[in-house]
Amino acid sequence: MVTRTSIGALGMAGLLAASGVIALSGTADAASTLGSAAAGKGRYFGTAVAANHLGEAPYVSTLDTEFNSATPENEMKWDAVERTRNSFTFGAADQIVSHAQSKGMKVRGHTLVWHSQLPSWVGTLGTADLRTAMNNHITKVMQHYKGKIHSWDVVNEAFQDGSSGARRSSPFQDKLGNGFIEEAFRTARAADPAAKLCYNDYNTDGVNAKSNAVYNMVRDFKARGVPIDCVGFQSHFNSASPVPGDYQANLQRFADLGVDVQITELDIEGSGTAQAGSYSNVVKACLAVSRCTGITVWGVTDKYSWRASGTPLLFDGNYNKKPAYTAVLTALGGSSPGGGGGTAACTVSYSKQEEWSDRFNGKVTVTAGGSAIGDWTTTVTVTSPQKISATWNGTPTWDSSGNVMTMKPNGNGSLAAGASTSFGFTVMKNGNNAAPVLGSCTAS
Ligand code: G3I
Repeated sequence: MVTRTSIGALGMAGLLAASGVIALSGTADAASTLGSAAAGKGRYFGTAVAANHLGEAPYVSTLDTEFNSATPENEMKWDAVERTRNSFTFGAADQIVSHAQSKGMKVRGHTLVWHSQLPSWVGTLGTADLRTAMNNHITKVMQHYKGKIHSWDVVNEAFQDGSSGARRSSPFQDKLGNGFIEEAFRTARAADPAAKLCYNDYNTDGVNAKSNAVYNMVRDFKARGVPIDCVGFQSHFNSASPVPGDYQANLQRFADLGVDVQITELDIEGSGTAQAGSYSNVVKACLAVSRCTGITVWGVTDKYSWRASGTPLLFDGNYNKKPAYTAVLTALGGSSPGGGGGTAACTVSYSKQEEWSDRFNGKVTVTAGGSAIGDWTTTVTVTSPQKISATWNGTPTWDSSGNVMTMKPNGNGSLAAGASTSFGFTVMKNGNNAAPVLGSCTAS
């Protein structure tokens, strides 16, 4: 567990190395990042990671600064690692694992047995062959990552939605029957006895027919000694499927069966204070359940989310911290540098407006965090030879190059918690169409 300390960064690194503890990212200021604040509460705070974004500098710096656990978003799925029978390709997943390890992050394994992203050859096998193929897949993938994965989603989404509580049809269910889940867990335990073995699903976040069915399975596994260590609650929320009122109670009843619970794919569609409030409720529920060992959000930035149009994550498309970020950090007991007492200051986001052959208009939206602010300032940097030729609804000043504009409000800059304002400007392209880059937003 890493907590705020007066030991200098080098001293802390030495202590961690000497005690064999893996250093978590963000130890220099223990409670100013999601990972370090969660570590202060004995939890991890992770994100889904896509290998093809690891070349994008702001993606990587946000990942490395804020998170201390990573889940490959697609790279460990069956169609990625065993597209052809018994021919394993680990390149993209290995890239994520090595990156995570080099930054001291833990890795969640996702996922071994799932009906989706399953190569078609699996569905063509007869029963005996399918059993061999399933066990071979689990064994080979887990052995490849032995010692590197803290928790594996051994079986993913095996139950139907709705009121039936029945198993979902899949090649595994249809040919091997209900026992495939137990068999998968037993094989997994043999392959890497140190990894925590999880069952993972969605729409199981509150008490309902589907979560009852999973609950009954876990209770049965514990009673019969079938190896299972954790249950993952994906927690994909939106207005049609909000955070359930009995979320914490549901996590607790699973924990009471003697398994850890993890929030494994959290994202909440929305914006502003409503989204921030929901995120805060999820974090508080996890912290209130002692066996809730960590939270993973399903992506770093809204722009790469599997449901990007719902802007469900903690960083916007320009990697600005959203009000939801501040709410999470605050709920974890952390505080933003410059944010004052755990409230964020403000966030900024950019959008392109009208465009002509020689110029375009840009709009920056400034949003207050979890508390009201009295004033704000941010910067807009354009790429030479671009020039900003006009501005509105703000008071600009310029650096000597003329490329960096510092923008302050016109008159009163106060904003209520979660409230927004915007300013605009015209960029003369001069042959360059690059988007302006925003600095961070500072509030007082
Ligand atoms: O990589 C290919 C690309 O080469 C191709 O051009 C493009 C066009 O089709 O597709 C790309 O692959 C996509 C892949 O994401 C990577 O972006 C797939 O089509 C797309 O189906 C896949 O979606 C993933 C989805 O699982 C598939 O079921 C999402 O990224 C991923 O976030 C999502 O994650 C799931 C969890 O594993 C389980 N729980 C639900 C969750 C959300 O659906």
